[in-house]
Amino acid sequence: MKLSVIGCGYLGAVHAASMAELGHEVVGIDVDERKVATLAAAEAPFFEPGFEELLARTLATGRLRFSTDFADAAGSSVHFVCVGTPQKRGEYAADMRYVQGAVESLLGVLEPGDLVVGKSTVPVGTAAGLAELVESKVPGALLAWNPEFLREGFAVEDTLHPDRLVYGLPAGADGDTARALLDEVYATIVERGTPKVESDYATAEMVKTAANSFLATKISFINAMAELCEATGADVKLLADAIGYDDRIGRKFLNAGLGFGGGCLPKDIRAFMARAGELGADQALTFLREVDNINMRRRIRMVELAREVCDGSLLGKRVAVLGAAFKPDSDDIRDSPALNVAAQLQLQGAVVRVTDPAAVENGRRLWPQLDYADTAEEAADRADAVLVLTEWTQYRELDPVTFGKVVRQKRVLDGRNALDRDAWTAAGWTYRALGRRAG
Ligand SMILES: NC(=O)c1ccc[n+]([C@@H]2O[C@H](COP(=O)([O-])OP(=O)(O)OC[C@H]3O[C@@H](n4cnc5c(N)ncnc54)[C@H](O)[C@@H]3O)[C@@H](O)[C@H]2O)c1
Repeated sequence: MKLSVIGCGYLGAVHAASMAELGHEVVGIDVDERKVATLAAAEAPFFEPGFEELLARTLATGRLRFSTDFADAAGSSVHFVCVGTPQKRGEYAADMRYVQGAVESLLGVLEPGDLVVGKSTVPVGTAAGLAELVESKVPGALLAWNPEFLREGFAVEDTLHPDRLVYGLPAGADGDTARALLDEVYATIVERGTPKVESDYATAEMVKTAANSFLATKISFINAMAELCEATGADVKLLADAIGYDDRIGRKFLNAGLGFGGGCLPKDIRAFMARAGELGADQALTFLREVDNINMRRRIRMVELAREVCDGSLLGKRVAVLGAAFKPDSDDIRDSPALNVAAQLQLQGAVVRVTDPAAVENGRRLWPQLDYADTAEEAADRADAVLVLTEWTQYRELDPVTFGKVVRQKRVLDGRNALDRDAWTAAGWTYRALGRRAG
């Protein structure tokens, strides 16, 4: 099939290359000239394991190309909308300019029988409005909503082997047409028996925001337990292990620590609250405000803990921050808890050096006021405290004995409960973590 993918960021670029991998002829379109040139040169504009290889492989087949010109989307029968939906400045709601703009640009190339497929995470009600626009301007063209659940760090695997497909379809015969086109696009995935949920637009849109709200709630739940553990002397890691054995609860997403960040969870739960308010159903989601509060409190607590281990004052203390990305195996620093903490430490007078295996370049560009180092050893040189704020494998596997030789004071704050506490304390480190007693 001939497909277009509008918006080639973390979601769209991986989607475009993955669709080419499935055998389709794909054009990826983005307004960002630099990104398009980078992708066309087979270079990944962001760090995502396995993506650059996939990009090189699919570009080499001739089935994948990138462009800044919407005219190149002409002739495709399915058009995926993968542009950003960031939080509006000063408001909780999502900024829908990019989705609106992308669909309006597509109107010029759509033909009757074409299908526009929304993948961006949007406020419920968006698809119905866009379907009306598409059908009124290009009679015979249709719209479906097909939310995306990929995880950064596993984006290629998640796109090629999703755990479910969700189709938000128009009613009646149009729904059958849209379903048939989507089934053709995802034939390889459908034939594998991947669970598929077909619904109206509103349900499909809500599946994504409900899923993210649930995940955020689970993380904040265990972080609330961590606050109580700190108050009682209990150990949140053991608590999570013990409750996680109950398969109704499960151990995943139950790691207490610095909480969630990134380009999705924080803005998605806020946009969901804002939309519920517009719909007169705000009470249903007031709990998400508390989920957000618990999450943001963890960052403040981390800074307090750093001050505590630095004998009550951060002024002039050398602090190493290991991790800048919002999660490991990504260079995404959007709403990164690690950088948020690093900036607060610096504002309180600490001499902060940040390092990350993939996100230093993004950090330098977007948070230039912070000082960066290329390696953990460089960042921790003569440090008074080391904070592990993103749980990269490289940091989990640091040898506390050799690493102890570069610092001035052997004090480690495990912001992700990711280190082997016994090994670090045995090597003479003072170990502190959120929700656990001092080691
Ligand atoms: N990143 C993820 O892990 C993930 C997972 C699931 C869903 N999503 C959702 O997918 C959407 C995209 O997220 P992302 O992380 O890829 O964002 P991103 O910022 O990395 O990418 C968005 C891209 O859209 C481009 N763009 C903006 N306006 C455009 C236009 N009018 N025409 C063409 N291109 C345009 C931008 O230049 C940018 O490259 C969001 O709604 C997000 O919530 C993201």
